[in-house]
Amino acid sequence: MSILSDLIGDLKTIYHLAKPVQGDTHQQRLENFYSTQSADYDRFRRRLLQGREELYQTLANGNEDGKIWVDFGGGTGANLESIGDHLAKFVKIYIVDLSPSLLQVAQARIANHGWTNVATVEADITQFSPPEGIADLVTFSYSLTMIPDWFAAIEQAQHILRPGGTIGVVDFYVSHKHPPQGWQRHSFFDRNFWPIWFATDNVFLCPNRLAYLNHKFDTVALIERMGSLPFLTGLKVPYYIFIGHK
Ligand SMILES: C[S@@+](CC[C@H](N)C(=O)[O-])C[C@H]1O[C@@H](n2cnc3c(N)ncnc32)[C@H](O)[C@@H]1O
Repeated sequence: MSILSDLIGDLKTIYHLAKPVQGDTHQQRLENFYSTQSADYDRFRRRLLQGREELYQTLANGNEDGKIWVDFGGGTGANLESIGDHLAKFVKIYIVDLSPSLLQVAQARIANHGWTNVATVEADITQFSPPEGIADLVTFSYSLTMIPDWFAAIEQAQHILRPGGTIGVVDFYVSHKHPPQGWQRHSFFDRNFWPIWFATDNVFLCPNRLAYLNHKFDTVALIERMGSLPFLTGLKVPYYIFIGHK
């Protein structure tokens, strides 16, 4: 693809990120937001959503053969590409999402790769259980911040995970003003600016999702970082990688 068409794609995406999201239901709002961006989604988000490959590769490496993986809010399924041959060792991977446009991209990706153990499911995360009844691994990559009932989503993950199962989350957040000892404390600017900035796109940054994950699961790893943003040189947004066990 040429530099010019990449630039046009970026400008289109920025326009859709800036315009108000419409719809009466959560699914309508998601589809209104994503249907016009799905073709450029993967290229643009590669520079925006950091830490995804690191999390997925770590989790895929750490799992034995024959496991069931539920990727909550899996979108286009691009994250699965980063785990390479490890994908084959999972008996089933479900990409659960409410956006038909992003799932269409995922279906094309599954067909192109010939992944016979990967299925897409159009469903609300808070309602989904795999047909097998349990999962060994549940992931949320930048989806928790977009789910209004995020506490219900975390509870659903805990509900479907087998005892000892693993949850992996990567997402934007901001810290509490007084975070737990050993956790990062973000500046006044970061704590107030980023939640307002992202709320335009119905992405809600707060300290509570990470606190709830830490409360609900045995924390195995917590990494807190500042990530860069396309076209916003000099600004850094906080994100975390969380791995826990039920
Ligand atoms: C920022 S995108 C991330 C997609 C993908 N995980 C990635 O890393 O590129 C958030 C995703 O969460 C999905 N989503 C948000 N709320 C959802 C819900 N309640 N049930 C299912 N999917 C949801 C959106 O449709 C979207 O695909």
